[in-house]
Amino acid sequence: MDGNGRWAREHHVPVGAGHRAGARSLKRVVRAASDWGVKDLTIFSFSTENWTRPEGEVGELMGLFGELIDRELPELHEEGVRMRFIGRLHELDEDLRARIARAEATTAANTGMRLFVAMNYGARAEIVDAARRFAAECGPEAGEAEFAAHLYAPDMRDPELVIRTSGEQRLSNFLLWQCAYSELHFSPRLWPDFGPEDLEAAIAEYGRRHRRFGGR
Ligand code: IPE
Ligand code: MG
Repeated sequence: MDGNGRWAREHHVPVGAGHRAGARSLKRVVRAASDWGVKDLTIFSFSTENWTRPEGEVGELMGLFGELIDRELPELHEEGVRMRFIGRLHELDEDLRARIARAEATTAANTGMRLFVAMNYGARAEIVDAARRFAAECGPEAGEAEFAAHLYAPDMRDPELVIRTSGEQRLSNFLLWQCAYSELHFSPRLWPDFGPEDLEAAIAEYGRRHRRFGGR
């Protein structure tokens, strides 16, 4: 989800208003994905590098995350969505961690779409965290499957499609292990302007691609 800052500038509003517009977009897109039967949706909400932003913006984002989790939880639960969070969650403040734990616990038994929220997430951090445990627990014969079992959400499916908005064409430390064979879709739209119709178009385009996974 990229482009909240540029959207705010274009609309002559503070950056926080851009993030709140992004949250409205997120709500519509999550609902559409769930309605269309997407099984796993992972959203990149805050990276391990985003702490370098101005303190005020980081504070606003953290406040917004807590607010959103609480506000959207009833409806997501109603829809049967299962919420999971991935990242270095132990570094988040206690209040946010409590909300995260509540969202996960409340929705744990649901059977609908799994919504993974990457929060204080970095793929390199994830791989290092996994590597430490892998080295401590696994012998020299252990391979890719055993390594992947140490990622933050070992049961998460590898993404079939990765969508990045705002015209930037890079992965920026998102799911580097899991995206080895993912299809990439770069949308020129700023995240607050990205809607269900854009998701639909991205999925339709994905459906026309041929995935060979290195085979013939
Ligand atoms: C994405 O929008 C939101 C987060 C990273 C939390 P940005 O804030 O990165 O938007 P731009 O890149 O400044 O436009
Ligand atoms: Mg950005």
